[in-house]
Amino acid sequence: MSALRFSESVSARLEDGVLLVTIDNPPVNALSAHVRTGLAAALNHAAGTVEIAGVVLTGAGRAFIGGADIREFGKPPVEPSLPDVVGRIEAFDKPVICAVNGVALGGGCEVALACHGRIAVETAAFGLPEVKLGIVPGAGGTQRLPRLVGTLAAIDLIGTGRTVKSLDAMALGLADAVSAHPVATAASLVRQVAGQPLRRTGSLDVPPVDDDALDAAAAKVLAKSRGQSAPAEAIRLVRAAGGVDLEAGLAEERATFLRLRDSTESAALRHVFFAERAAGKVEQLEGITPRRIETVGIVGTGLMGSGIAVAALTSGHRVIGLEQTPEAAAAGMGRIAGLLDKAVQSKRLTAAALDACLARLETTADASALAAADLVIEAVFDDLAVKTDLFRRLDGIVRPDAILATNTSYLDPDAIADATTDPRRVLGLHFFSPAHIMRLVEVVDCAKTAPDVLVSALAFVKRLGKLPIVSGVTEGFIGNRIFSAYRREAEFMVEDGAEPQAVDAAMEAYGFPMGIFAVNDMAGLEIAWARRKRQAATRSPDERYVEIADRLCEAGRLGRKTGRGWYAYPDGVRTIDPNVTAIIDAARAAKGIVPRNFTAEEITDRLLKAMVDEGAALLAEGIAARPGDIDLVMINGYGFPAHKGGPMFAAGRHEERTA
Ligand code: 3HC
Repeated sequence: MSALRFSESVSARLEDGVLLVTIDNPPVNALSAHVRTGLAAALNHAAGTVEIAGVVLTGAGRAFIGGADIREFGKPPVEPSLPDVVGRIEAFDKPVICAVNGVALGGGCEVALACHGRIAVETAAFGLPEVKLGIVPGAGGTQRLPRLVGTLAAIDLIGTGRTVKSLDAMALGLADAVSAHPVATAASLVRQVAGQPLRRTGSLDVPPVDDDALDAAAAKVLAKSRGQSAPAEAIRLVRAAGGVDLEAGLAEERATFLRLRDSTESAALRHVFFAERAAGKVEQLEGITPRRIETVGIVGTGLMGSGIAVAALTSGHRVIGLEQTPEAAAAGMGRIAGLLDKAVQSKRLTAAALDACLARLETTADASALAAADLVIEAVFDDLAVKTDLFRRLDGIVRPDAILATNTSYLDPDAIADATTDPRRVLGLHFFSPAHIMRLVEVVDCAKTAPDVLVSALAFVKRLGKLPIVSGVTEGFIGNRIFSAYRREAEFMVEDGAEPQAVDAAMEAYGFPMGIFAVNDMAGLEIAWARRKRQAATRSPDERYVEIADRLCEAGRLGRKTGRGWYAYPDGVRTIDPNVTAIIDAARAAKGIVPRNFTAEEITDRLLKAMVDEGAALLAEGIAARPGDIDLVMINGYGFPAHKGGPMFAAGRHEERTA
């Protein structure tokens, strides 16, 4: 029979009495208005056609349904609403079975929950990731999921927003069966159950659980979502599902969804979502094919190099780690294998994948091995002479088409590139420590980097599963430049009268996991000290300079590794140290500063403004391409709370509020 079309994105064909409905709304089959209209029309058609026994719902392409259309948020509502469509599916007289061919997320999962059966391919995944967008499920997820999988599992899934693969979904009771041919399996299920009482999720009872277990499950989720309101709201709704009828539960869920959808938290997280999708895209580079990168050379297998090696190995690359001596190469192998072992222990890697990684790993003291590399990443001591010498040597060893990357944090990568005969193949790949865990990588586009080298590096970072942000060349690149401005302003305030612990407390209350002085202690104060000494000769005498950090370093207070820095750490506990207070008092007195009080609001406002001003300068200088890139750097590299959207987003909101 010929295809039936219900809207621009929903079509169907009738096969042996079953209406096979396909949603085709690239790229992820989001539930845009025309999809909802099409689904409603398909149901009408099935209801009014006697020879149709039931319906199978599936998606075209790789996704089943990626959720509500996030781009519609903030626009006037268009009928039919998603809860209406979902309600109609559940109440439908004839069986509606979904054939989940790919991800069923958010509204997509809610459609699946309302169907009378769920058949999934093994590679499909189910999830209600709404809290990651600062909202709660708005089409029945908080009420139907606990009925199907129990309240404890629902709190975990909805509260964290994590997704589960089909086999796990089946174990939970969320999927009914896994099939390599889900449409055919779903169609035969339709024929099997047609005419019989249908299993409607909304009519099931929520299995009882004791309150202590619920409290523990909720506490576990909330511990990881400090400062955000959506997870707590989601848990409240899920817990209520056991005590109210479906209608009341759905009404409360919808009201909560609409309230949160209009919140700053949700706007911030949506901004982050779209900024992440835009990151690493460079308009001028569209259409350029990346070079193949399979074998990665890593020079230096210390803390940073071994982390990079693990990231490369676990994403399927071959790795050659280069060290200066065979003993150091063996130690490097041990470090990398140790990190891989830890990944197995924490279930981030399977034992089989570990073996495959080790089979692709070699460490050596023989530099000529790097002739096999498509990309060489240098992760040696951050010293310009050491790095330029290394690049000069690498230039004679690697293939002419191999890419050379430096992992420097502060040195000038253009100077490193110029030490080679072909600076077009050189760029910066600034990983953050620990490199196998941290998502952020600043991809530094040097003065002479060739476009296809940049494209290849971006593709490589994406294949690592990381977030690439392009930065131009500047001292500290995007992140460390903003971080320096943040630290400078914090130190100004301390000199003027704020205590370091008050500054840290204000930023922690804002949502940073750790305030700036605690972070400095964690990272160690000596690198910034060395940089300040380097800059001393060129520093303008008119520039305000706070000497407190220098005094701390001179007193041997280099941070946590020396047991003391801005704070003392008796038994590892961060504690105010009277010696630091004395150093600060002396520094203020030396400049004749009479200390004054700062409110927490003034502290956060001034620090935010310092970050934003530096961000604006980076945009004006063309170092950063988009405000969203700056936000992602600060969120993923420096602990800026994602639910505040990053400094540039937060500043825009602040302006809107105060305008
Ligand atoms: N709405 C609108 N656009 C979406 C979208 C959505 N739900 N999900 C993804 N997109 C867009 C992206 O913006 C991107 O657009 P671009 O190409 O113009 O940059 C494109 O689809 C491809 O996205 P990805 O690059 O992320 O593609 P992947 O293949 O890597 O991942 C995905 C696909 C797993 C579906 C991922 O995009 C994703 O996680 N999407 C969000 C899922 C989600 O949060 N759904 C819940 C929405 S809220 C909801 O449903 C409320 C309901 O309860 C009422």
